[in-house]
Amino acid sequence: MSRLPPRTLILLLYSMLCASSKAKEDIVSFHREVLPILRTNCVACHKPGKSKGGLDLTTHAAMLQGGDEGQVIRSGDALASRLFETICGDEPEMPKESEPLLPREIDLIKRWITQGAIEDAASDTGTRRPAEPTTYRSLPSVNSLAFSPDGSLLAVPGRHEILLHHADGSGVVSRLAGDSPRLESVTFSTAGTFLVACGGAVSEFGEIQIWDTRRRELIRSIKESNDAFYGVAISPSNQQVAVGCADKLVRVFNIADGLEVMRCDNHLDWVFGTAFTNDGLRLVTVSRDKAAKLIDITTGHLIDDVNMSRDPLICLTRHPIENLVATGGAEGKIRLFKMEPRGGRLSEGDNKEESFVREFEHMASPIQSIAFSPDGIHVACSALSGEVRIFKADSGQRVAQIQGGRGPIFALAFTADGKQVAAGGYDGRLRYYNTETGGVVKEFNSVPLP
Ligand code: HEC
Repeated sequence: MSRLPPRTLILLLYSMLCASSKAKEDIVSFHREVLPILRTNCVACHKPGKSKGGLDLTTHAAMLQGGDEGQVIRSGDALASRLFETICGDEPEMPKESEPLLPREIDLIKRWITQGAIEDAASDTGTRRPAEPTTYRSLPSVNSLAFSPDGSLLAVPGRHEILLHHADGSGVVSRLAGDSPRLESVTFSTAGTFLVACGGAVSEFGEIQIWDTRRRELIRSIKESNDAFYGVAISPSNQQVAVGCADKLVRVFNIADGLEVMRCDNHLDWVFGTAFTNDGLRLVTVSRDKAAKLIDITTGHLIDDVNMSRDPLICLTRHPIENLVATGGAEGKIRLFKMEPRGGRLSEGDNKEESFVREFEHMASPIQSIAFSPDGIHVACSALSGEVRIFKADSGQRVAQIQGGRGPIFALAFTADGKQVAAGGYDGRLRYYNTETGGVVKEFNSVPLP
């Protein structure tokens, strides 16, 4: 476990502490347990528009409706259910042309049908939007920060919610409650009209929330996977969102209808960050597998990868104007890259046609977050040690070095005028620093305490 990035470690400990009673353990959940199996193994051939045998396995209703040959599930009787029959035996009929389901998966489906093939309400999936706003007894750690482009709001994830603060720290404007107990990353659309956050519940679900900033309403919740999403990015057209996931996949969804438009399985470990190129055609991603990858969004294929880091990569931030990204991770180095292929794979150390631009001063501690000022002049990074450093992006010259709060700093964001940088982390306090001097300008709690 010591190899996990600290944020993840804290997340795991947290979810262990919060694990609810095991009383419901034996009841199989359609949404949490059955649907993920079907999504991974069946829906490629059984979805609207491509329903082999006339069978759509994407929703509970469609599944009970059955296919061309009639119903495939007889509630309460797995052995009499055609669907169960097709996945059993030495050479199961389904999933067609691929490996049989695992015994554990077959058993779950069997138990689910035997228990009545019920669809648990989405609210029964253990983690859901709380009826009352969360009451905090202590400050939760701050995972992410984003200022609205007009400079008026600061979005900060809390527990089961996003808090919208007045950007000047004078108070909480609104609390946006949602299903995910933890949101890992928040960002505003270019015009600031909507806000996107991603997160979920470890080993349960990943969620992307899209909020109308003005009306403070949830426009859409996209729930996929059975693990949490990280590192959300909005495309330049504001029509797509990308996320990384603990299941090693990179996914892109349409904001308008929530449909998945791309999936890439090229990473070997958790994916923590995503960034679109200016033309919206490509995506850069970073992972605990130490690699940064350039992906073609139309095909989902890998174009190129950079394996310069010797240790897991934790964060990725794109330059606000140029087609550049900065990566950071356990090695303690910010590296700046062009978001374009290097003209073929190169072995490490070979700098010919490199997309590599610059490396910044080494931090003695793993980098947890990186932020550019809106004009692209400054870049700041924060570390596990609680240190924050600010550099000139074009020369790498250090402008300020700050010993931030108590404990790791996980999140950074520059104010809209670029004059201050806000930092948050383990101690749950938000601190604003002067970009030029590093001096503390203000400090307040990330969530309201009683
Ligand atoms: C590669 C494509 C493919 C995948 C993946 C796949 N199926 Fe099918 N499935 C088909 C086709 C094609 C049919 C139509 C009947 C046939 O050709 O056997 C079908 C038919 C069915 C039927 C109806 C059979 C009948 O005769 O009534 C069931 C039930 C079914 N599939 C369940 C599943 C389940 C459950 C999974 C996942 C574990 C799955 N399928 C995965 C292609 C697929």
